[in-house]
Amino acid sequence: MPFAIAIDGPAAAGKGTIARAVAAHFQCPHLDTGLLYRAVGRKMMDGIDPIEAAVTLSEDDLARDDLRTADVAQAASKVAVIAEVRAALLDFQRAFAARTGGAVLDGRDIGTVICPDAPAKLFVTASAEARAKRRYDELIERGQDASLDQVLAEVKERDDRDMNRADAPLRPADDAIHLDTTELSIEEAVAKAIELIEAKRG
Ligand code: DC
Repeated sequence: MPFAIAIDGPAAAGKGTIARAVAAHFQCPHLDTGLLYRAVGRKMMDGIDPIEAAVTLSEDDLARDDLRTADVAQAASKVAVIAEVRAALLDFQRAFAARTGGAVLDGRDIGTVICPDAPAKLFVTASAEARAKRRYDELIERGQDASLDQVLAEVKERDDRDMNRADAPLRPADDAIHLDTTELSIEEAVAKAIELIEAKRG
């Protein structure tokens, strides 16, 4: 039976890092679903209609090297509100989740909408301040211009939009296990996530 692992949570809570490590541990493929929305958001910034962009999204769009900026994150959160955009990306995500041998998907609505039957669901959180500091450090490390106050304001704005949209809002599935990474190192968060999933897997 394919073992789908759903990892959701707000921006910069650590879910991407955890999802990659969990996928490596269980030796199964990983899909960062935020990248789909970032690719659509990026195309909207290029002047393309977001619904058209979602319907025609290609491997090349996902391989662009300019999807990890603060502007693209905001654009992704904006296109993610559009029901037609979400609908266009649904089948691809569900097919990925149903792969033989299992899969790890991380995003905002994996445990609630994409894989409601996933046997293991994690909801990864951290305080807005801790998440902003991590995102700020990443941007600085990549040589991008950033201010901590602005990154914090953007994190809060994105949380608010992602949690309060009508379609597939960010929220924990009823059967998700919560993992707060505010006080954890990356290694501790990854070890805890693997322990929780192992326990679910039996
Ligand atoms: O995980 P991320 O920061 O790369 O996601 C960017 C935006 O994409 C996020 O603010 C909301 C949207 N998103 C979503 O609506 N549903 C998902 N499953 C993943 C991301």
